[in-house]
Amino acid sequence: MNIRIRNLSEPSCACEALILPLFEGKKGVPHSFPPGFRKFVSGLSDGVFSAKHGEVFFAVRPDAGKPRQVLFVGLGKREELTPERLRQAGGKAMSQLRSLGITDVAVSASLIRTTQFSPAVFLEGGLLGQYTFPRYRREKDAKGIRTLTILAEPSSALKNDVRSTAEVAAAVSFARDLVNTPANDMTPGHLARAALSLKRPGLSVSVIERDRARRLGMGAFLAVASGSHKPPKFIVVEYRGSKKPPLVLIGKSVTFDSGGLSLKPSDGMEKMKYDMAGGAAVLGAVKAAAALGLPVHVIGLLPATENLPGGSATKPGDVVSAVGGKTIEIANTDAEGRLTIADAIGYAKRFRPRAVVDIATLTGACTITFGAEAIAMMGNDRKLLDRMKKAGEDSYERVWEMPLFEEYRDYLKSDIADIRNIGNRIGGLMTSAYFLYEFAEKTPWVHLDIAGTAWTEKDKPYMPKGASGVGVRLLLNFIKELK
Ligand code: BES
Ligand code: ZN
Ligand code: ZN
Repeated sequence: MNIRIRNLSEPSCACEALILPLFEGKKGVPHSFPPGFRKFVSGLSDGVFSAKHGEVFFAVRPDAGKPRQVLFVGLGKREELTPERLRQAGGKAMSQLRSLGITDVAVSASLIRTTQFSPAVFLEGGLLGQYTFPRYRREKDAKGIRTLTILAEPSSALKNDVRSTAEVAAAVSFARDLVNTPANDMTPGHLARAALSLKRPGLSVSVIERDRARRLGMGAFLAVASGSHKPPKFIVVEYRGSKKPPLVLIGKSVTFDSGGLSLKPSDGMEKMKYDMAGGAAVLGAVKAAAALGLPVHVIGLLPATENLPGGSATKPGDVVSAVGGKTIEIANTDAEGRLTIADAIGYAKRFRPRAVVDIATLTGACTITFGAEAIAMMGNDRKLLDRMKKAGEDSYERVWEMPLFEEYRDYLKSDIADIRNIGNRIGGLMTSAYFLYEFAEKTPWVHLDIAGTAWTEKDKPYMPKGASGVGVRLLLNFIKELK
């Protein structure tokens, strides 16, 4: 999509359709419009359109003026406006125009300019809402918006906002594409190639193959990979925007989770292609950080593997040892994400990181607890946790902290090894994190469980059904605040 900023009044723009945001009560029609148009708007009955938050109304102008077609979008009450409402309004308005087959659009920024928020927030929702995944269909749907003109003075601040918003939206789309891709194509090898495609000056990518992983002592990660014919790939991406010690981001990258020999029920198993959404979020965040040239040092680790019940698969009860030597009794092969992340945490320590953040579709219990509304968060460093909480509020990828009571340690006691990879069902959300905590030890660390939020079953204002791309904007916000 071609996005431009033009200092034009609304009636003098030559677009196919104009988006006109209004406050509740249809307030905020720009003065540049002729009285006939203003009358038309105020004459719309509230039943038709009252500009409540989320309402849209498409009109072909009866007063014969330009632009001919106007999409009104409600922002609700001025005093109740939030960035999220603005984002949602952008998503709704632009999706509506897309479904009408309109390709050349202008957005009036006059009203948004009178608030404390940037028109780029509206744009963010708009761009994210345009996402589609046509790759596997022969019949492609509507073309989508080709040209978007923001009607505002092109200040350098606004230009910057728009440019970075476009980069962020591209990174979210990149992540969504990876997650939506079915597991027969999205293999560990394919994920590694996707990571390699991000290479650019300042951003390096390397892949640790099975043999080297073995020499590094990654027994937990390799135990997960052992049931599949596809070779695992431990993917390392590094963006060096500063010389400081790095922030390490670990993304769960199980490209398909059948459960292994602890096989999952068939109902819903097809969804387990999204078990690499954490890895996709990490790649998206690193891609955006590099594109924006953020002054930070970030390393992304993606222990990519399938979890299948092949002939050489790990068996329940097997004992393996992780990086650092801790032994793990694998009581359930479906609790595989934590095994891959345990080795990634062990590997991360060699970088002497200032912080480690892992992001993973780790537990069904997370979905049961929060539905699709929050990311579960646990960790061992108050400052990092608070910063993540703030990043969640700013991006509206909200996180909610859960406890790591020391009593949970007992839940993971093994009769044979140092630790067991599952507890006893109860407290499953916390025990999964506690397991990781036993590997993070003193390293400042935050865990994010995105099992409930990484996939959406219904269209949302700026999130079409399917992969949500959650985590990209959260991690990016978190990185930005890292001083
Ligand atoms: N990938 C799943 C978690 C998951 C479930 C993500 C549903 C998204 C939606 C994970 O590997 C898993 O299977 N976890 C088990 C752990 C259990 C065996 C302790 C679970 O949550 O059931
Ligand atoms: Zn599993
Ligand atoms: Zn899994």
